[in-house]
Amino acid sequence: MLLGLPIAGLLTMTCCSTVPDGPPTLKGVYKKDFLIGVAVNQKQYSGEDARGNPIIKANFNSISPENILKWESVHPRPDTYLFEGPDQYVKFGEANHMLIVGHTLVWHYQTPSWVFQGTNGQPVDRETLLRRMHDHIQTVVGRYKGRIKVWDVVNEALNDDGTLRQSPWMKIIGEDYIAKAFQYAHEADPEAVLRYNDYALEKESKRKGAIALLKKLQAQGVPVTAIGLQGHCNLISPSVAQEDAAIAALAKLKLQVMVTELDIDCSRGGQRNTSADIAANAQAQRGNLSAESLSDVLQQQLARRYSDLFGVFLKHKDVVKLVTFWGVTDADSWRARGNPLLFDRHGQPKPAFDAVIRAAGR
Ligand code: G3I
Repeated sequence: MLLGLPIAGLLTMTCCSTVPDGPPTLKGVYKKDFLIGVAVNQKQYSGEDARGNPIIKANFNSISPENILKWESVHPRPDTYLFEGPDQYVKFGEANHMLIVGHTLVWHYQTPSWVFQGTNGQPVDRETLLRRMHDHIQTVVGRYKGRIKVWDVVNEALNDDGTLRQSPWMKIIGEDYIAKAFQYAHEADPEAVLRYNDYALEKESKRKGAIALLKKLQAQGVPVTAIGLQGHCNLISPSVAQEDAAIAALAKLKLQVMVTELDIDCSRGGQRNTSADIAANAQAQRGNLSAESLSDVLQQQLARRYSDLFGVFLKHKDVVKLVTFWGVTDADSWRARGNPLLFDRHGQPKPAFDAVIRAAGR
């Protein structure tokens, strides 16, 4: 079963998985295992990206919006929702028979400061912030009810040590902001798969925190149905054993497991951390590799890493329902200098692409 539907049922949404006798595609070779997704940007869902769009249509059967559904993009001012981009994004997914993901409802980042402010510039009170959260979720999830099938409801609520991040949500509302966000999303679309999404869950301390949080939510009857492992990796970390242990531990929660933002940073600075934090990434990328291309040695290392990680995903294909890459080509990536994806900046498949195809074993 995939997303509550038999896998065959969901995959009928994703027509033309393989062109008969054509070159193998990602969605084609993994069609019996899990869906293969990709984060798309404005040029891609509007159809303007001549380099990226053929790659997307050939290889992916799910999309995530890299930025357009973040609070600051879709709801920049109290009375202003901007739905032109999100509408285009959803139409693009429908026209291409893809599983459409929504990212992200409640996050400490890319949320305008007015959300947390009262009229006098002081932090807003709990009830007002809950009402703002409710109205935002009701409006955004409600608009795409039945069309966006999976939502990242709460994003990155944990610190690396497994404690809850002291975000404005947490400070103003308290710990139950997480339960409330899931309840509001469920109210707005009772059929949607609702994810908790975070990075570095391969680290034991953070994973323990996530498991404790999710068990608590489940015990309270909160409608969380999936966990997203972002998967911002580098050439060393997480190890295959760590990835394997993370998925195995999370699988015990009986939630669907999804790899939501996969990329592998090849830059020298990128080997020091696997944080998804923008500032840490900018620091890691400084003074790095040429953005142009990878040496043959690094190409081979990257190919091996992707192949190893896909081996782990396949091992857990009973719980892993979706593997999403965080960008189409290296030129699109938030870690562009790390050349982290399967297609280079000219849209050519890298050795890592062939390795992922071969890892499917068919
Ligand atoms: O759209 C504005 C543009 O108008 C402005 O001129 C330009 C100047 O900086 O900024 C543009 O916005 C940027 C936006 O990406 C769109 O390109 C933001 O500055 C930039 O911070 C933003 O970065 C995104 C980041 O999340 C923060 O939202 C990345 O593209 C995106 O890949 C990254 O994705 C996150 C996931 O959502 C959550 N997990 C971690 C992951 C990586 O950080």
